[in-house]
Amino acid sequence: MKAHKNPIRYKKTDFIIKDREFSYSVENTKFSVSTQDELFFHSKSVWIYNADVLKINSIKEQFIDLIVTSPPYNVDIKYNSHNDALSYNDYLLFTRGWLSRCYKFLKDDGRFCLNIPLDKNKGGQQSVYADITNITKQVGFKYHSTIIWNEQNISRRTAWGSWLSAAAPYVIAPVEVIVVLYKERWKKTGGSRQSDIIKKEFMEWTNGVWSFMGESKKRVGHPAPFPVELPRRCIKLFSFVGDTILDPFLGSGSTLLACLQTNRVGIGVDIDEKYCELAKKGF
Ligand SMILES: C[S@@+](CC[C@H](N)C(=O)[O-])C[C@H]1O[C@@H](n2cnc3c(N)ncnc32)[C@H](O)[C@@H]1O
Repeated sequence: MKAHKNPIRYKKTDFIIKDREFSYSVENTKFSVSTQDELFFHSKSVWIYNADVLKINSIKEQFIDLIVTSPPYNVDIKYNSHNDALSYNDYLLFTRGWLSRCYKFLKDDGRFCLNIPLDKNKGGQQSVYADITNITKQVGFKYHSTIIWNEQNISRRTAWGSWLSAAAPYVIAPVEVIVVLYKERWKKTGGSRQSDIIKKEFMEWTNGVWSFMGESKKRVGHPAPFPVELPRRCIKLFSFVGDTILDPFLGSGSTLLACLQTNRVGIGVDIDEKYCELAKKGF
């Protein structure tokens, strides 16, 4: 894989908003999207929408090259605008709804990096990874692989169940996963065809166990952030320079920061205005 020597630099004139249609061009390819009333912020190649991913109008079908996201895990995190304590059944229905929308947003050679837990202990044990992966296939996605994220600072070793006894012990894997999916074809045909990944990164990251620290909620000011390293790796490994990346659960804006660092167009959606405000501060 060749490292990209001359990354695309966007000019202000690349991005035009006219009659509520946002259009931009990358390497002679023109894109456009309706901005509607959901647009919260934009700067250079970064777009933030304050909207519900289940209802958003501003993202056209077949528009996105890569989705990188981490949805709510339904573990009773106190988000401002989202109820994170649904019944497991309702949670899976919500999951089906937003996954169907994401499927439509992707181009035919579009890809999807989905960061979810392996399983869930809080509020009853559930095989979250297995159940959600099943739903991705039901809505049309094709499965490619799974990356294990060894989140080194995770502290789940408090639930012992029955200590030194076979009565009711808990087994906990202190990892999360990134499920790698695609829409129709795994081989990318569109885009700039320019990769910016270097040999060392390619060698390390194609080994599907990634080890790096999780992000501090306190430092970021969001109850469930992932570190910029996670979207940065996904973006460099699975997309070309200049591609359009979507995070439908933007939170603090980590994915958009990674887009800025890697010269991709970034679109983020969050239902909560305060989190959109927080994400905006990064630009
Ligand atoms: C796990 S957090 C994402 C954190 C993000 N990856 C980061 O690094 O900060 C999930 C986010 O999804 C948002 N959210 C929940 N339901 C939503 C919906 N229906 N549409 C859009 N955003 C939603 C929440 O407000 C929350 O910020």
